[in-house]
Amino acid sequence: MSIPRLERLWLMLGGAMLVAFLVVLLASALAMGNAPPSSMASVDPASVLIKGDYGSPGISHAGKTYHVHIAALTFAFVPNAITVPVGSKVIFHIAAKDVVHGFEIAGTDVNTMVIPGYQSEVTHTFSHKGRYLIVCNEYCGSGHHLMFATLIVA
Ligand code: CUA
Repeated sequence: MSIPRLERLWLMLGGAMLVAFLVVLLASALAMGNAPPSSMASVDPASVLIKGDYGSPGISHAGKTYHVHIAALTFAFVPNAITVPVGSKVIFHIAAKDVVHGFEIAGTDVNTMVIPGYQSEVTHTFSHKGRYLIVCNEYCGSGHHLMFATLIVA
């Protein structure tokens, strides 16, 4: 059985793409150290805003490192206004109370999904003063567009 020239070309192209993707994946994982999030802490969604780390979410700090616990729920972030000093390293810990939400700080590389049952963690150092918009970027219901908060770096 002979394969037409064009079909053979497309098969080779498909095979070459698979090899290229595998090389990129291996380089990313082995040479660049990229991996899925390792801190898979679990959080009982029923405890959010009731008890535990997310009982009354907010800011705590040790030296120049700030820990911000944030609860994500339809359709708000608690707390919805956060202030940190410029130059501080901020570790955001976010837990969802109900459905899947997103946590993105516009103008930065902070962007994570917030999945009920798990704690999402993102670290960022804010080197510029300003007012940053925090938005939910996963569609979570009819009030999704109203789900935002403010971060002030002073
Ligand atoms: Cu929460 Cu969209």
